[in-house]
This record gives sequence, C-alpha cells and structure tokens, in this order.
Amino acid sequence: MRQLLDEAAKGGYGVGAFNVNNMEQIQAIMEAAKQTTSPVIIQASRGARSYAQDRYLYHLILAASELYPEIPLAMHLDHGNSFETCKSAIELGFTSVMMDGSLKPDGKTPASFEENVEVTRKVVDFAHERGITVEGEIGVLGGIEDGHGAGGSGLEHVTDPDQAVEFAEKTGVDALAIAIGTSHGAYKFSKKPDGSVLKMDILIAIHNRLPKTHLVMHGSSSVPKDLQDVVNQYGGKLKETWGVPVEEIQLGIRNGVRKINVDTDNRLAITGAIRKVLWETPEKFDPRDYLKPAREAMQKVVALRMTQFGQAGHAGDYKPISIAEIARGYADGTLSTKPLVAN
Ligand code: 13P
Repeated sequence: MRQLLDEAAKGGYGVGAFNVNNMEQIQAIMEAAKQTTSPVIIQASRGARSYAQDRYLYHLILAASELYPEIPLAMHLDHGNSFETCKSAIELGFTSVMMDGSLKPDGKTPASFEENVEVTRKVVDFAHERGITVEGEIGVLGGIEDGHGAGGSGLEHVTDPDQAVEFAEKTGVDALAIAIGTSHGAYKFSKKPDGSVLKMDILIAIHNRLPKTHLVMHGSSSVPKDLQDVVNQYGGKLKETWGVPVEEIQLGIRNGVRKINVDTDNRLAITGAIRKVLWETPEKFDPRDYLKPAREAMQKVVALRMTQFGQAGHAGDYKPISIAEIARGYADGTLSTKPLVAN
C-alpha cells in the first residue's frame, strides 16, 4: 500500500479502495482493474472478515494476485478498532491496515486525542517492523458501516487541521483519514452538497499544512441517481439522497487525497442488478443468473471510478516491491514516517 500511495502521489492521481465481502466483488474489481490498467486497493472491514471468514477473503485475494500479476494490489483492513484486530489482520496476510483510533474499541464512542495517538502509534510500530502500511483517522466520520461508526451527519467531529498535524507527527502513519462531513452509507446529504456540509476547505487547509501526507477520503460513494433508480424501479425502497460528487473527490485528489473509499455505490449496483433479474424473470433460481449481472454492474461502477480518480493506465508504471524490502525502508529511514509540515 505504501508504494501504491507514494506512486499515486508521484503521478498526481487517487486510488479507489473498494470494499469486499465475497468472490464476485473481488472478481468485479480485478476485471475493472484489468480493463482500465489500474493499480487497486481491495479492503475488508471487520464485518466483512466475520461475514466471509477472513481466511476465505485472504485466499480469494491471493488468487486475484496470481490471476492478475500485472496489477499492483494492496489488501487493506478497513476500520480496525483495536491493536488486536490490526495484529490479527497483519498475521493473516493483509498488506495494509487502518487503525481507526478516532473511536474507542466499541467502534461507536469517540475516543480522546491521546487515546487515538497511543493505539495508532502502537499499531504503526508493530506494522512497520513487518513492512505493513498503516492508515490512521483524526476527526470522526459520520454514519455507521457494518456496525462501525459514531452515527450522525459527520459534521460533529470535523478534523481540526492543527490536530491533524500533531497526529501525523506523533503516530508516523502512512496515510491519514480525515473527517470533512462525509459519512458511510447511502444517506449522506439531503441535497447536492455544498461547502456548508462538505468541508473541502478543511481538506485543503490540512493539505496545505501536510503537503506530503497521503490523505484518505472515507464515505466517498457518489450515490448516483441512476443506481438508486434501478433499485427503486424493481421494487426497492430507497429514499431520495445525495452522495459525494465526483468533481469534489477530484478536487480532493488535486489536494493530496490518494485513497478514496467506496462501498455503497457497489452495493447499490449489485442490488439493482439482482432485483432486475428477479423482477423480470421470477422463474429463475440459479444464483449465477443474477450474480453474473450483479458482478458486471459492479465492474462498470468500479471501472468508471478508476477512470475518474485517475488511477487508470498506471498499473504498469512500477513493479511491486516486497514487504521485506518495505520493512527495511522503514528501518533505515528511506521510507519516511515524519510528515513534512508547512506553516
Ligand atoms: P461509502 O459508504 O460512501 O461507500 O463509504 C465506504 C467507506 O468509507 C468504507 O470505509
């Protein structure tokens, strides 16, 4: 992951991090990566690890790396809630972990700054020794995903740029998730978001202070109306809602965003495709009859995002370096963990 993000910074593009729970989602991402020649981040939350049994996910992603050797691939833990969760992911084979110390281990209650620094630092020390990348979070995102989250609109704990600087300095994280008013799930905004609810000015202020730090945007599904419409056309009951417009994400990418988390858009694409098949041909009962269109619908969304985020065309720019080499880089200081701070 560290190499993937450093390369994205060099190339001035962002990399989508797509959540998975099953084989079809992994296949959709890899086919989209092949189609667009993109490096990829596949991520699994704690919920995904327990739903699928994480060993299945590990071997499916290993299969993906064997089947698509030309695609640089990071396997990332999304929203680790404790040192133990991150440790178990690293021991299983994840090449990157998120320690979300913005919340207490219950995954719901906001933690203090000091608690966040302490647990994140501990994960960074353990991970870097083993060549594994760490994402931290400062500020608290809105919404709840897979049971993880403080809820709310995401405006309650927007990241303070000074705290972001202190957090980056004290923890040595490789990537920094910030809270700028986005939230997990489909219901982010009640109308097209403007600067009063989506705080791109805060993101830019953080980037100006930490110009070399890889920023991460969570809750970044765009929740496009066409995907909502398919779900509702075939018996779904989604309420009117807005996500994060792609042009705002692109503004973020011009200001240090290197990783963009997307889950909901793919969930909508999959559900819409399955609903359509079951609605139009109720006599069908072979799961492949609806999982194949579902996989294709997700691939279409992922390929589009890969193009919009700018990662398309970059899979062949570099050769993945080994985890052991990355560990040496952290140990000898070639891979910096000290952020560049501008005033
Ligand atoms: P969405 O719900 O906007 O897709 O966000 C996913 C996410 O941030 C995962 O960490």
